[in-house]
Amino acid sequence: MQTESIVLAPFEAHHVGGALALSRAVGWAHRSEDWEMIRSLSEGRVALAGDRVVGTALMTPFGDTCSAINMIIVDESQRGRGVGRKLTTAVLELAGGRECRLTATNDGLPLYEKLGFAATHQILRHQGIAGQVDAPENVEWIDPGALPAIKALDRMAFGADRDAVYNALAREGSFAAIRRGDRIVAFAATRLFGKGEVVGPVVAENSEQARDLLAFILSGKEGRIVRVDIPEQTGLSSPLEDWGLPRGGTVVAMVRGAAARSDTAAVQTFCLASQAIG
Ligand SMILES: CC(C)(COP(=O)(O)OP(=O)(O)OC[C@H]1O[C@@H](n2cnc3c(N)ncnc32)[C@H](O)[C@@H]1OP(=O)(O)O)[C@@H](O)C(=O)NCCC(=O)NCCS
Repeated sequence: MQTESIVLAPFEAHHVGGALALSRAVGWAHRSEDWEMIRSLSEGRVALAGDRVVGTALMTPFGDTCSAINMIIVDESQRGRGVGRKLTTAVLELAGGRECRLTATNDGLPLYEKLGFAATHQILRHQGIAGQVDAPENVEWIDPGALPAIKALDRMAFGADRDAVYNALAREGSFAAIRRGDRIVAFAATRLFGKGEVVGPVVAENSEQARDLLAFILSGKEGRIVRVDIPEQTGLSSPLEDWGLPRGGTVVAMVRGAAARSDTAAVQTFCLASQAIG
């Protein structure tokens, strides 16, 4: 039985190594670059036993109205003694009055329900080695000059300002888009992540556009490990399976303090940037 005392401290850059050891121990694919990206967009807390990181939690703000709570992990030897609850409560305080979103594993679900989160839908992880996919002709790569248009589409679909996330995505990866006339009406991002590459966010007017964006990006990734996280209702599981990316695990999207929002946006999110930031 561990009796070592545990203190919470601000999550700083030098904690990434300890955080990476924790995420590896629970089987998450993050590289230190992935931790660094999410940390640079977030505020957080670590649980320390001496100078050893035994727990992590981050709050990623999206403007003043919304946030994601993520990367909540407690070292197996320290579980069941309230550390997860303390870390989560601490980052909820950092969120202030913002709506808080998260994706819950089976381990995390009971804790989040107790802290006032309600389940909204399932998120499905598709991952595998991309097969041969034909590139549709209505999609093109776009340069960072298009970032303001991309951010505006995401704001409509996501319901909050994720400009900082998109600045980071533009540094780490690339974007493809569908235009109508001169106007970008749908886009997809891709970047390195974990054991391979990820496609997301994908924001589009309809599932045909989302499928075309995915096919275009996957057509350049034959033989490589690719991951795509999708809300269950997007109907993209079947094409993803055909392209070599079988369905893996499921997590539950949850929200606390949801802001009132109309459901009439012209575009929606078909694939996530990651489970951590939606
Ligand atoms: C989820 C996790 C962080 C919880 O950490 P922890 O330090 O064990 O959590 P706590 O001891 O603070 O317990 C949290 C609460 O959940 C409850 N709980 C935990 N597992 C439960 C279960 N299977 N059924 C019902 N309640 C449960 C505890 O009883 C406790 O409730 P209480 O505060 O009212 O007493 C830890 O299990 C973990 O790191 N899991 C692997 C990584 C992961 O999946 N993280 C979640 C990502 S969304």
